[in-house]
Amino acid sequence: MLAFEVNQHAVELDLDPKIALMHVLRNDLKLNGPKYGCGLGECGACSVLVDGTIVRSCLIPVSAVHGRKVVTLEGLGTNDRLHPVQAAFIQAQAAQCGYCTNGMIIATVDLLSRNPNPTMDEVKAALSHHLCRCGAHVEILNAVELARVAMSAGAQ
Ligand code: FES
Repeated sequence: MLAFEVNQHAVELDLDPKIALMHVLRNDLKLNGPKYGCGLGECGACSVLVDGTIVRSCLIPVSAVHGRKVVTLEGLGTNDRLHPVQAAFIQAQAAQCGYCTNGMIIATVDLLSRNPNPTMDEVKAALSHHLCRCGAHVEILNAVELARVAMSAGAQ
């Protein structure tokens, strides 16, 4: 039996411990924030936070999160109270097809939790392995800056 926390809810699952966390989140727990892009750790679309640190959920077996805390896009905020990074992405209209958006938002939350005032080079480095094929990069960078300003002003 595997036991861990997802979005502040305790989860106990009896399944093959080798299954990728991404499949468990999407198929068993019906959390579709993490997207299945490449399945190879290359695109970042499947990103989640494990104990507060960004992880590519397609790369790790679900057994790796036994006893740990997982947060997906769904767990960052609520419909009534979005996380400031989610709100910033909406304000900046930082999505086109939206497939990369989960990874971009999770990466931004991870970055700003470690470095509340990143330089533009640090932002670009943090997002550089998150692929956006639509070309929404300018809006995404604008969203990160909006989130940085909001969080610096105390938004939670
Ligand atoms: Fe995990 Fe692309 S689906 S990195």
